[in-house]
Amino acid sequence: MKHLLKMLDLSSEEIIDLLNLADQLKYERNHGIPHPHLAGKTLGMIFQKASTRTRVSFETGMTQLGGYPLFLSSNDLQIGRGEPVQDTARVLSRYLDGIMIRTFAQQEVEDLAKYGTIPIINGLTDFCHPCQVLADLMTIREYKGSFQGLKMCYIGDGNNMANSLIVGGLKVGMEVSVACPNDYQPDPVVLDFAKKNGGFSMTDSPVEAAVNADVIFTDVWASMGQEGEAEKRRIAFNGYQVNDEVLGAAHEECMVQHCLPAHRGEEITEKVFEAHANEIFDEAENRLHAQKAVLVKVLGNHE
Ligand code: CP
Ligand code: NVA
Repeated sequence: MKHLLKMLDLSSEEIIDLLNLADQLKYERNHGIPHPHLAGKTLGMIFQKASTRTRVSFETGMTQLGGYPLFLSSNDLQIGRGEPVQDTARVLSRYLDGIMIRTFAQQEVEDLAKYGTIPIINGLTDFCHPCQVLADLMTIREYKGSFQGLKMCYIGDGNNMANSLIVGGLKVGMEVSVACPNDYQPDPVVLDFAKKNGGFSMTDSPVEAAVNADVIFTDVWASMGQEGEAEKRRIAFNGYQVNDEVLGAAHEECMVQHCLPAHRGEEITEKVFEAHANEIFDEAENRLHAQKAVLVKVLGNHE
């Protein structure tokens, strides 16, 4: 595995390998066993959007692996003043051992990988959020033991989270159902993959999507960069809230996951959020362990 650009690029085996390594790194971390697999390596972290979890988990994760994380805000980089990504990629490849980037266009991440010579990790684009979904899959397996026979449901905006969850969920063998308003569906490339794969259904009814679900996901209605559409989206997503009625259709032991930050009272009720807070904050913690697995695989000499 050279890069982590999107879930579509990973095989089912690569995903399971990453999750196994993440479990092992979590065990070692919790038992005080050091694992300096990346001693002497430097990760550049380019942020063109805000972040709490991604920044802090990559920074601490890299430190725990014995490496050095370098925070690079686009406000300070020349890329923020228009230096082409092709040049940035070739320059940074001379200094760093890897780059984590959070940006808008997926193409920018693909171009970094194309023009640079070092591993690139996608820390969120408008198209996808693979690091988050690896942590999500890790959390589901932690709670449920395996993916076999599970149904994952996503309710809300067909955004970066929806795109990655659909692909990740199907690749590990879960059934995936999605409820989105007609004008806010997942990316056509993802829908094409899902339809060919099988085990996928889409509806405009959240309750219908939630029937017999083992895990329900949602995400904000207006993602970073869409703040100007927030009011229009609040109207369009009316009825797409994860609430008691939706949970009532799911399995009794159904988990609820949210990548965070959450807008209580919009995509999820305060009551549902707090009833499932342990699962949601375990999910947030697992960002650290899952990303350390990614770092070891792409920056280390791990097979
Ligand atoms: N879930 C997630 O990626 O959070 P941040 O935006 O805080 O990094
Ligand atoms: N869909 C959200 C996810 C944040 C982690 C966004 O892109 O803002």
